[in-house]
Amino acid sequence: MRQSSVWLLVIATFSLSVSSLSLAADHERLPPVRKLTAEQSKVAAANYQKYCVLCHGEDRQGYVNDHAPSSRSKELFESGIPHAVLRPIQYGRPGTAMGGYLDEAGGPMTLDETWDLMYWLYEQSGVKQRAPLTTKPVEGDIARGGELYQQHCTDCHGKNGEGVNAPALGNQTALAHNSDEFIRYAIQHGREGTPMLAFKDKLPAQDIDNLTAFLRSRADGWQATQPVLKPLPTPDQFVLNPEGQHPNFTLQDGLYVSSADLAKALVAKQKIVLLDTRVTSVWQTAHIEGSFPMPYYSDFDEMTEALPKDVMIVAYCSCPRAAADYVIEQLRDRGYQRTAVLYEGIFGWMHLGYPVVRGAVNSHAAATKEGMEADNTR
Ligand code: HEC
Ligand code: HEC
Repeated sequence: MRQSSVWLLVIATFSLSVSSLSLAADHERLPPVRKLTAEQSKVAAANYQKYCVLCHGEDRQGYVNDHAPSSRSKELFESGIPHAVLRPIQYGRPGTAMGGYLDEAGGPMTLDETWDLMYWLYEQSGVKQRAPLTTKPVEGDIARGGELYQQHCTDCHGKNGEGVNAPALGNQTALAHNSDEFIRYAIQHGREGTPMLAFKDKLPAQDIDNLTAFLRSRADGWQATQPVLKPLPTPDQFVLNPEGQHPNFTLQDGLYVSSADLAKALVAKQKIVLLDTRVTSVWQTAHIEGSFPMPYYSDFDEMTEALPKDVMIVAYCSCPRAAADYVIEQLRDRGYQRTAVLYEGIFGWMHLGYPVVRGAVNSHAAATKEGMEADNTR
């Protein structure tokens, strides 16, 4: 037993020194970090405040809602820019509470704003030296990696990489954008100030490669898609079934309506306003039919100008309640009493088998490595 761990150590040290040699050779390929102007920083800080605080927190600490990861950990910013930080901001991680913020995907930010927000987060993290990671594949024994995964990782990341209280490692979008070395870096070094511990002193380097290869093997192809954006509804479309009866919900804690009760009211064509409080890009992807987008970052004084006070208003999100709770609080402060939050959120609603309307998409070629590198230095 002892002897084999000595061997593993020798192997670990050997492969570490080999990989640091090859890393050094690629060092000069790191794209430069662009320094933001004072004006760009100001806009980026305001965008963070408006769009990200809800889940990632005032101090970028993460874990405020729905296990949103840290937006300041040293290791993420050493290894993650540009792509591993930029792409989730732009396109989100479908199937998780992280929506996309780029206008092209139906979100509220321009391309330049997403880049500036990424550089702003980098500057705020205080990281001075980026890890020289390449896009080279990490080779390893996938079967062995799978065993190690079941042994060490499922409590937080889930048996099938679906994420329990940590990022979904099997997420196709994440796997499409995160390089092997980025994944390996997270396993080796962990993420400071978060539950993700460093495995470099717990597992031999070869096993970390095996784990990386295993995670990579879960990426069975991902087609980049571009949503065909629907026009957003206008305020005269707030009320569903204007001729219908008022619903009579029993609200848990004076606030929450169940999916079952909401579904019944919709089937019975009762009079209701249904608000989707997520970033608008995910309303474009899928929403409960008839819902009106009122994202958590709306100007509520403006949004409520045409919103009637005598109709039952139900808000929902996917986090599963944080954004909807916030919006309903804003409405109650403005005198809207007949208000409720969908308890299970839209993922719970879908999970229970209730319908959603899905957006149309144009498939186009998956982003190529070349394409991704071409705009590395924006
Ligand atoms: C105690 C819970 C826990 C365990 C056990 C754990 N992780 Fe994590 N992991 C996390 C959390 C939480 C994060 C996100 C940290 C942050 O805020 O950046 C994370 C992040 C990661 C990331 C980066 C993902 C991304 O999208 O940025 C990878 C890769 C990862 N873990 C792999 C593993 C592997 C492989 C194992 C098993 C060897 C493992 N983790 C074990 C909690 C855990
Ligand atoms: C509704 C909650 C929510 C909001 C709002 C939100 N995020 Fe996230 N974010 C998440 C969750 C949850 C994840 C992890 C998803 C997963 O499982 O991979 C995440 C992941 C990320 C990641 C990937 C980090 C990593 O370790 O892999 C980045 C970067 C990120 N978010 C940045 C942002 C920024 C910037 C904003 C504002 C423009 C924002 N998020 C708004 C919930 C949110």
